[in-house]
Amino acid sequence: MPPEIIKGLKDVYFDTTESSFIDGIEGKLLYRGYNIHDLAEKSTFEEVVYLLLYGDLPNKKQLADFDSLLRANRIIPDDVIQVIDLVKTGHPMDVLRTAISALGSFDPEVTDNSVEATIRKGIRLTAMGPTIVAAHHRLRQGLEPVAPNPDLNHAGNFLYMLFDELPNQETTDLLDVDFILHAEHGPNASAFAARVTASTVSDLHSAVTTGVGTLKGPAHGGAAEEVMKMALDIGNPENAAEYASNLLDNGDRIMGFGHRVYRAEDPRARHLRDRSKVLGEKSGHPEWFQILQHLEENTMQPYRSKGICVNVDFFAGSIYYLLGIPDDLFISIFALGRIPGWTLQCVEQYKDNILLRPLTEYIGEMDLEYTPIESRS
Ligand code: ACO
Repeated sequence: MPPEIIKGLKDVYFDTTESSFIDGIEGKLLYRGYNIHDLAEKSTFEEVVYLLLYGDLPNKKQLADFDSLLRANRIIPDDVIQVIDLVKTGHPMDVLRTAISALGSFDPEVTDNSVEATIRKGIRLTAMGPTIVAAHHRLRQGLEPVAPNPDLNHAGNFLYMLFDELPNQETTDLLDVDFILHAEHGPNASAFAARVTASTVSDLHSAVTTGVGTLKGPAHGGAAEEVMKMALDIGNPENAAEYASNLLDNGDRIMGFGHRVYRAEDPRARHLRDRSKVLGEKSGHPEWFQILQHLEENTMQPYRSKGICVNVDFFAGSIYYLLGIPDDLFISIFALGRIPGWTLQCVEQYKDNILLRPLTEYIGEMDLEYTPIESRS
């Protein structure tokens, strides 16, 4: 009997979890039991990171202490700045991957895979991630990196380091929500890849490096950048229908639609849709939202019944674009939000570890005779 092949490991359960609950049919997402809608509307990224890593919402003192800890850990070693400078011509995700890997060489607890040390390392990586991305963006423009500002929260400090300008509250809040929405999402491709690395009893820096490399692909985190490129190509809401039909007729996909788990709308999309609309109107550029809205409500409407609905990446790009963030940084922002989620997934893996090692059925030739190279035609 040939083995049953489950391509893409679709719908395969490989462990239990207390991190996030996803109901793809209902379009429901909970972090540690809390609904993503409540967290997006009422929480902060700092509080959500605490919730994910420690399993419960913090009280005021716990949150203040945790926030201070994040702020205190933002500075990256000068040697890592030099590494970033060396590879600065690369894509920001390649640079982020390299810099996180390099940070492993400087972390005093790199080989300690205890739950406590892994959480401490995850906090440090969460805090340092924005410094890497912002420093790279400055260096590639021939500018000096901007030192972290301890007076600003996680999102505000990232914008400050990126643009060397104090961000306003509205912009900071937008990015804060975006980080919350991207913080954790079960064993998606990048988190699963990170868990595979952790399952070999390798360290968190290696696992997060794996996660960044896996997130980079357009089928996963790269979609936001592709969506905005598509919107720019379309240029005007009136062109949207024809452009999208041509894509689909060619057998191409509309980026920002479809999801391995969700058959209903990705619950994270709602928050970015609303904010994309408001930001577009306020900044005098409603056309990007109108193009996306047109695609969602017209071109892709028939796809809803097939379970292909809008995902978290569809509206994200238009927000980043209007905030003046270069398109090749969109996916890095996703990665910065996801570091706590990767950490949590690795903690769960370490807690009850088993090597993750599936099988493939061999369908190639068997027992061929080895011909010396001189005798081959
Ligand atoms: N546009 C048009 N058709 C689509 C789309 C899309 N965006 N997504 C899926 N489909 C169709 C496929 O063509 C396929 O049709 P078929 O059965 O007639 O061949 C069917 O839906 C199933 O698609 P699969 O690729 O088998 O579904 P899978 O679960 O493996 O893929 C994925 C999910 C990769 C996200 C896919 O929907 C996709 O490529 N979407 C576009 C990229 C994207 O937005 N990625 C971000 C995902 S969210 C995230 O990672 C944070």
